[in-house]
Amino acid sequence: MESGSQVIVRPARSLRGSVQLPGDKSISHRYAMLSGIADGPSRLENYSTGADCASTLGCMRALGVKWERKDNVIEVQGSGLSLAAPTTPLDCGNSGSTIRMLSGIVSAQDFASEMIGDESLSRRPMERVIKPLSAMGAQISSDSGKPPLRITGSKLKAIDYKMPVASAQVKTCLLHAGLFADGETRVEESVRTRDHGEVALRAFGAKVDRKNVGHGSEVRIRGGQRLRGVEARIPGDLSSAAFFLCAAALFPDSQLVIPNLLMNPTRARLLDILMQMGLHISVTQLEEINGEMVGSLQIEGGRLEGATIAGADSAALIDEIPVLAAIAPYSEQGLEVRDAKELRVKESDRIAAVAANLRFMGAQVEEREDGMKIPGGQHLHGAELDSFADHRIAMAFAIAALRAEGETLIRRAEAAAISYPAFFQVLEELAQR
Ligand code: S3P
Repeated sequence: MESGSQVIVRPARSLRGSVQLPGDKSISHRYAMLSGIADGPSRLENYSTGADCASTLGCMRALGVKWERKDNVIEVQGSGLSLAAPTTPLDCGNSGSTIRMLSGIVSAQDFASEMIGDESLSRRPMERVIKPLSAMGAQISSDSGKPPLRITGSKLKAIDYKMPVASAQVKTCLLHAGLFADGETRVEESVRTRDHGEVALRAFGAKVDRKNVGHGSEVRIRGGQRLRGVEARIPGDLSSAAFFLCAAALFPDSQLVIPNLLMNPTRARLLDILMQMGLHISVTQLEEINGEMVGSLQIEGGRLEGATIAGADSAALIDEIPVLAAIAPYSEQGLEVRDAKELRVKESDRIAAVAANLRFMGAQVEEREDGMKIPGGQHLHGAELDSFADHRIAMAFAIAALRAEGETLIRRAEAAAISYPAFFQVLEELAQR
């Protein structure tokens, strides 16, 4: 889709069919980075098709890593722990994951590099990685805590760090830096966030220890470990599946099959919430691949009741809240979201974006600093909406449009390609009219 593309979404009666999702974005980023610093080759099957994960691969190439794409497989020749000095800035595009998680690796290299991003990324907070990486010995300058980041790498020393914000990107960044540091790095989180960083490092042969601490956890890694390449099939992206799951939840007649989907427990809270709301989900063929749980989902529509998302759930569902909010007006009791102020510093201010688009569709919404309250039992009409140049907003409102009266036009719909380029095409195939 070209920049400035509009998509029209018509109402549907149900969602039916089978859909295989491209590889999970969180895992793809991490595998691209770790295979680049591993010894020997890696083969990454079902690598994410999203532009964000292509940004990570682009940065790895600029750092001297050789890789090739063959259909949906990426073959990487690992460079080992020492990368090559880039001759151009590292372009992270729209991807917060790329800039934050890769900064942990480039901070430990013996060269200087600059990490840049698009307009949205250039507004996002980087203090959360600058502060602990600087404490480990990296020299980082920024534009008042925002990109571009100019990083002069050096020999890092281990850190014992309690993260002030619940962020898996920051945790992974520090584990990456810890891999190169003198001594043992310990990262503590007060709320448990997705653990793909820990799981991926182990898949590449590193020893990483984790234990529960209160409601959160601590993770430890010793510096100086070498990684080995992997052969991996990346499980389908659960956050992309969320759009179809929520669409199925809108219609009692829905029947959907999703094979090979990521079932990591730190991501799967979405399934509990949707089941509580009335969606029928059964999981078969559950297996573990490289430390990640994968399963096949069978989904049937049912009632659509309301929900409350707060506390640790808000961190666990952070990427799915926009689409849960987009279907909330059609639910019986509505949705209340609290403790989710991180949504304000994502690719867009997702609380403001969701509230604006729901209001354009005629819904009542109460916007709050750290969340929102959306009453249930509402009737929405089609409208002209904007994606706010945010992939998850573009896709969330395509789902809201399925039960509205009349057509909905979404401007800047090409944003969906950041995580899921085929989204609108697949939605058209699944939507029954
Ligand atoms: C991600 C963590 C989350 C999430 C993002 C991917 C990851 O960000 O929103 O889409 O892969 O670790 P934060 O760590 O900033 O919460």
